[in-house]
Amino acid sequence: MKRPQIKPGIHAVGAIDWDRRLFDALIPLPDGTSYNSYLVRGSQKTALIDTVDPAMDTVLTGNLDDLKVENIDYVICNHAEQDHAGSIPLILDLYPGARIVCTPKCKGMLMDLLHLDEGVITTVNDGDILSLGDRTFEFIHAPWVHWPETMVSYLKEDKVLFSCDFFGSHLAQTALYVQNEGQVYESAKRYFGEIMMPFRTNIKKNMERLQSYAIDIIAPSHGPVYDRPEFILDAYRHWVYDEPANMVLLPYVSMHGSTKDMVDYMVGALTERGVNVRQFDLTVADPGKLAIALVDSATLVLGACTVLGGAHPLAANVVFLANALRPNLKYATIIGSFGWGQRTIEQITGMLTNLKPEILPPVYIKGSPTENDFAALDALAESIAQKHRENGYK
Ligand code: FEO
Repeated sequence: MKRPQIKPGIHAVGAIDWDRRLFDALIPLPDGTSYNSYLVRGSQKTALIDTVDPAMDTVLTGNLDDLKVENIDYVICNHAEQDHAGSIPLILDLYPGARIVCTPKCKGMLMDLLHLDEGVITTVNDGDILSLGDRTFEFIHAPWVHWPETMVSYLKEDKVLFSCDFFGSHLAQTALYVQNEGQVYESAKRYFGEIMMPFRTNIKKNMERLQSYAIDIIAPSHGPVYDRPEFILDAYRHWVYDEPANMVLLPYVSMHGSTKDMVDYMVGALTERGVNVRQFDLTVADPGKLAIALVDSATLVLGACTVLGGAHPLAANVVFLANALRPNLKYATIIGSFGWGQRTIEQITGMLTNLKPEILPPVYIKGSPTENDFAALDALAESIAQKHRENGYK
């Protein structure tokens, strides 16, 4: 098959994985993903940027065969994670003259993860240049997007930024470039929520670094290439800089309906007061959708019933996830019902070690809700609405 080109001599040679449905044994992939690899031919040297997941290594080598690539001088490894670096050993077998180019931190990881020989690796410092003849790479260290060793590679003459996971999206499509920005926005937000959000501070620093570069094209390692970089740069600016939205995330679990009755009432009470709500039944919820909602929700209201004297495991699980993803939550509280054990509130609030939301007084009741309990939910909804108004959340 003829390989798509970003520009003459810059070929996409990665693999589209239509069928993958789970990443990191955690993240649902409703639209598959891709492992993007790029071949850049200069007048004197040839470079391969990242490889592919080893499960699809024959797609990469087949694409290189199609292009009649006889020699690769450099394999630029922006990130050591196996979905990008995992096929490096095969590439070294097929192209034994290639040198691996990566950050010093990445070198150790490649030796640990892939058992690469130290002698095949050349490390580059932040700002270092690599010439292919008429084309030049500048390497920009970008730590913690999303591992400590990550970098991005800027092809100066063509103004192409090879950003690896940074700005990526889990989306399989045959077209090289973004076709439907709404669809890519959702996929990229899912990716950001689950992979990048815990490193929001580092991402801000790396975004600031990139401001001084003229970028015509962003070529990430997952999902389509951006020929309108402002689309994804604007999205990232919104996710990392803006205040959260006038939105409550309300995940819940209910065994016999009492907590669900409270959740339904709370959704109505918040809606009547102009607060938007995203409600999730935790017995069927997609963790990716929860992560998307966490990116810009101002408040978490957890609907949690009690089981075995404490928090239902599904309620504890979503709080564990939220704590790990470090969203910009400003307020949190719990609503729900218990029979006799009352340790849920203590357990749940004790899990929010990474987050600093203001904890609003929970409405945690014995048995099924009464008029007094619904009145307490009204008061909680009013308090949330007022706080959102005072902060100007939109
Ligand atoms: Fe797509 Fe961090 O690997």
